[in-house]
Amino acid sequence: MQCDYFDAGACRSCTWMGRPYAEQVADKQRHVEGLLAPALAGRRPVAWLPAVTGPEEGFRNKAKMVVAGTLDAPTLGILGADGRGTDLRHCGLHEPGLHDALPVLAEHVVRARLAPYDLTTRRGELKHLLVTRSPAGELMVRWVLRSTEPEARLRKHLGWLTDRLPVAVASINVQPEHKAVLEGEREIVLTDAATLEMRLEVGAGLRLHLRPQSFFQTNTAVATALYEQARAWVDETAPASVWDLYAGVGGFALALAAPGRAVTGVEIAPEAVASAQQSAGEAGGAGLEQARFVAADATAWALAQPTADHPDLVVVNPPRRGIGPALTGWLESSRVRHVLYSSCNAATLARDLAALPSYDVEAARLLDMFPQTTHHEVLVRLRRRG
Ligand SMILES: C[S@@+](CC[C@H](N)C(=O)[O-])C[C@H]1O[C@@H](n2cnc3c(N)ncnc32)[C@H](O)[C@@H]1O
Repeated sequence: MQCDYFDAGACRSCTWMGRPYAEQVADKQRHVEGLLAPALAGRRPVAWLPAVTGPEEGFRNKAKMVVAGTLDAPTLGILGADGRGTDLRHCGLHEPGLHDALPVLAEHVVRARLAPYDLTTRRGELKHLLVTRSPAGELMVRWVLRSTEPEARLRKHLGWLTDRLPVAVASINVQPEHKAVLEGEREIVLTDAATLEMRLEVGAGLRLHLRPQSFFQTNTAVATALYEQARAWVDETAPASVWDLYAGVGGFALALAAPGRAVTGVEIAPEAVASAQQSAGEAGGAGLEQARFVAADATAWALAQPTADHPDLVVVNPPRRGIGPALTGWLESSRVRHVLYSSCNAATLARDLAALPSYDVEAARLLDMFPQTTHHEVLVRLRRRG
């Protein structure tokens, strides 16, 4: 992939920009296998399936833009070391629908007189613009503001925006603090709809509802393959009970739900849990009535369950820090026979696998969710020995 921003030195976020894509995938595969090898030495050899890839550009379903510049000429992109904005609205990683939406959103910022926040003077209102696109082409647009001062202007000019873009959900996120965090806790939804529907072609069709403040996998095509792979592996073992720990909006849990199979999703973010519950409730039938979701810390929740309630299979999909010693220790001492571990950080995955000596890794698969970068997603299938 070629990128003008990269070539001009304006953005270096994609460290592998310009490298042939097949070479990137081969390198990631070697890197991930190398990281996991020491943890797996002495166990049954791992069957690595061919890496899953999607488009190498135009794959990001979410744009996270820092807003800077001036009232009449805002920049949407990143901040340089000097605190000034670099405009990246034509970033080629974004899905085409997002790419086309960003200039319109920039024009709307000017119309609604949303003054970009200035880090050095601490003046202005608009900090970030966060936009997610569904597979059907609808958008969730979120303005991260320092205060609610611009709310009336945003409401007034919302019609102008919805006349031009398929905005399903629009919301203000209030982040009053002067620190480098993407978003705050308070959300004010401006549209009738509060959730963006993400329809994925997994099984007979997976309808996930996404609210502001909920995590969703960045690359829709590869996320679809991830849930489909998990479904295929889980169907082979046909467990009667499944826990999906770090469930987000319920992608794994709802993909794995089936008649006669009880699925429990555990997730810390209440908005994500509400989204998952909505998806399960709407779908009905096909075993989804047996899917339930709990807002809790995954480890504390698992450790608090009576042994008689331990499931046949556990899915874990933690943030980069991995699952850590308390949860690996619990898995080791539990009755759980099968584990699916989906990781975006093979270094912490290797550490956690080393702490799970009772399991063999039967199969593993790299999924390239993040082309042009060194980031990776890897799904491994574990089975208790004996
Ligand atoms: C990599 S995301 C995976 C989400 C989901 N499995 C999916 O496929 O979209 C990790 C999730 O873990 C949640 N999380 C972070 N810390 C947690 C904790 N201590 N207990 C439970 N969930 C947590 C985050 O809110 C986020 O939704």
